[in-house]
Amino acid sequence: MSPRLTQLMQRGCDFLGSDVAIICGAMSWVSERNLVAAMSNAGGFGLIACGAMTPELLDAEIAATKTLTQKPFGVNLITMHPQLMDLIAVCAKHQVTHIVLAGGLPPSGSLDAIKGAGAKLICFAPALSLAKKLIRSGVDALVIEGMEAGGHIGPVSTSVLAQEMLPEIADQMPVFVAGGIGRGEAIAAYLEMGAAGVQLGTRFACATESIAHANFKKAFFRASARDAVASVQIDPRLPVIPVRALKNAGSELFTAKQREVANRLDEGGLAMMEAQLQIEHYWAGALRRAVIDGDVENGSLMAGQSVGMVKQEEPIAEIISELVQQADTALGTRG
Ligand SMILES: Cc1cc2nc3c(=O)[nH]c(=O)nc-3n(C[C@H](O)[C@H](O)[C@H](O)COP(=O)(O)O)c2cc1C
Repeated sequence: MSPRLTQLMQRGCDFLGSDVAIICGAMSWVSERNLVAAMSNAGGFGLIACGAMTPELLDAEIAATKTLTQKPFGVNLITMHPQLMDLIAVCAKHQVTHIVLAGGLPPSGSLDAIKGAGAKLICFAPALSLAKKLIRSGVDALVIEGMEAGGHIGPVSTSVLAQEMLPEIADQMPVFVAGGIGRGEAIAAYLEMGAAGVQLGTRFACATESIAHANFKKAFFRASARDAVASVQIDPRLPVIPVRALKNAGSELFTAKQREVANRLDEGGLAMMEAQLQIEHYWAGALRRAVIDGDVENGSLMAGQSVGMVKQEEPIAEIISELVQQADTALGTRG
């Protein structure tokens, strides 16, 4: 790594305890012990995706990851999880150093519990006003993620979020940029704009160490950027967070699921909170079908627009060294 790239990544590396300031974003079902340990062992930073895991399963996953790596790694928890506080207690028991809270602002008590356990708290900031609020509330780092990303997405692109937010907040705490990053040139650019590091998901999902089914990986290798489309909300009364995934029969099944849940809302058989939870359970199940069972027709193939740059299975260490080399070359040509 060149002195310039080392310098640009220093703050992110110091924060994460890694050799490069590249996080492998948590991907439900994909980001388990093998991928997480491989990422951290290769000098990056891995995150366990807790998703809908029970506290007992998370306990076992953290313990297993620790047997595979001595390097730091983190845990990603979803704010909507009904047992969030128990999951935080599991992380505390294992002295997990970094916790990412995804899916909304930290619910009451969660921030204190995480900080009380001595862990660093990382949150997603979907807009500048929320970023400022999160900074005031005491989070340690932020991720800004654009709509090019795979999985649940916001409405604004990475390039716009980075321009709007980095000049305002990058001097206050480490900010990691995510969404649509497939090559090192883009990493260099965001670092130069003030980011402390980056978070990639799609680029790592099909690594050799990823347990994703061969069918899932094949679908990624064949896809181009335009195949990774955002889900559509069909009923204005039922707000669903859009999800970016490769288009397949499963995309239609999601439309049918929304209709079913909207009808039950209308009939009064379901409260809004429960309706939204059902939608999230649907996604967790659909993603499992594709990632674990290999049902790439009916399951969910969550993928970002950078999927067109994922061509073959490669070990995590090779992906990282490619990204670093591309970033170095880009910085070198800038003189
Ligand atoms: C298959 C898949 C599953 C994902 N699952 C989660 C998740 O469970 N929690 C989360 O916070 N983000 C999730 N994400 C988002 C990633 O952590 C990461 O932020 C995103 O992939 C970055 O954008 P990129 O895909 O353009 O690299 C997922 C992404 C993918 C592709």
